[in-house]
Amino acid sequence: MSADLELVDLAAEIAREAGELARRRRDEGVHLAATKSSLADIVTDADREVEELIRTRLREARPGDGFLGEESDADPGVTGITWVVDPIDGTVNYAYGIPAYCVSIAAVRGSADPQDWDALAAAVFAPAVGELFTASRGGGAWLGERRLSVTTETPAGALLATGFGYDPSTHDGDLATVRRVMTMARDLRRAGSAALDLSYVAAGRLDGYFERGLKPWDFAAGALIVEEAGGAVTRLDVESARPMIVAGGIDVHARLLELLEDS
Ligand code: IPD
Repeated sequence: MSADLELVDLAAEIAREAGELARRRRDEGVHLAATKSSLADIVTDADREVEELIRTRLREARPGDGFLGEESDADPGVTGITWVVDPIDGTVNYAYGIPAYCVSIAAVRGSADPQDWDALAAAVFAPAVGELFTASRGGGAWLGERRLSVTTETPAGALLATGFGYDPSTHDGDLATVRRVMTMARDLRRAGSAALDLSYVAAGRLDGYFERGLKPWDFAAGALIVEEAGGAVTRLDVESARPMIVAGGIDVHARLLELLEDS
């Protein structure tokens, strides 16, 4: 088995176990542990417990690898491989009982800076609906046993998705961006989990996706899944405080870039 396939198998196994833990905790009742940057940016006890489980499993399986997670301290490791982890992406959905949340795990080679890394393997597991999206570099993108492809034609306009940062001071700018892209859209979704938005682009459930201000763990796995499904992913304004991620099938991605560059 190739090294990347071993990584994706490990990511998938741990994402399933972690997702089932998140789902169990959700069934038992969610306890909000803290508010991070703003009212909407919450963390639940489950976020922390699930990240700890993932970190422990990775340490057992691959002791020298690095770790970059949403809820705990980063560790650069010694092997050149870093695991980039969002224990629950879609935390607000999770807290409200909306099923659109997932565990997102990626293995990358290089530093923990998305501009410098090569993503090798990815798993996104949505436990409330039992869907597992995976990808390995050169090995395609998959939903369970089904190979994924992005959409290529959007005669009625593109079905797009986006998200909004938790900081209310950014909302006006993000809404202006939405106004720009609506010229090419048939409709717009805001589902509340970047990792699932990206996985849905890969699955052809969305034609394109854009969002400013994502953190590396929000998109590390999903971006590889889109690329391995034949799509393209670009980060704009990487030097700014809120880079924008743009993803889609090749045509939709290109049209989004035309509308969004310099926005
Ligand atoms: C959030 C989700 C959301 C996106 C936010 C992210 P979290 O991640 O991906 O869709 O709009 O920007 O922070 O906080 O649920 O892990």
